Amino acid sequence: MLRLLISLLCGVTTIQATPDLAEIGRSVFTDKNLSNPPGQSCMTCHKPNHAFADPRRISPGAVPSFSGNRNAPSVMYPDDFQN
Ligand code: HEC
Repeated sequence: MLRLLISLLCGVTTIQATPDLAEIGRSVFTDKNLSNPPGQSCMTCHKPNHAFADPRRISPGAVPSFSGNRNAPSVMYPDDFQN
């Protein structure tokens, strides 16, 4: 935790994975209070048992009458994402 805070304060972007960081990530990824309105977490669309993608054709929005026009892609291997 201390290492994460120092890294963020110093602007260091490469962070070593640790059990503490994994727990923070799991906690954020599954927290349904972070959506507005509350009720949706990352895991609602990025489903762990579907390679962190959404098997539905269109992912539902947090507001029932709003949604995008596609489903959530996989978020596995985020280190490989292009900046
Ligand atoms: C309502 C469904 C939904 C929720 C909830 C959601 N996502 Fe997504 N996510 C999407 C969709 C749809 C896309 C694709 C957007 C696009 O490319 O237009 C996406 C794209 C992404 C991408 C980019 C993937 C790529 O290959 O470029 C990342 C990373 C990501 N989401 C992480 C998260 C995280 C972290 C959370 C929680 C804080 C989250 N998502 C919550 C639907 C969702």
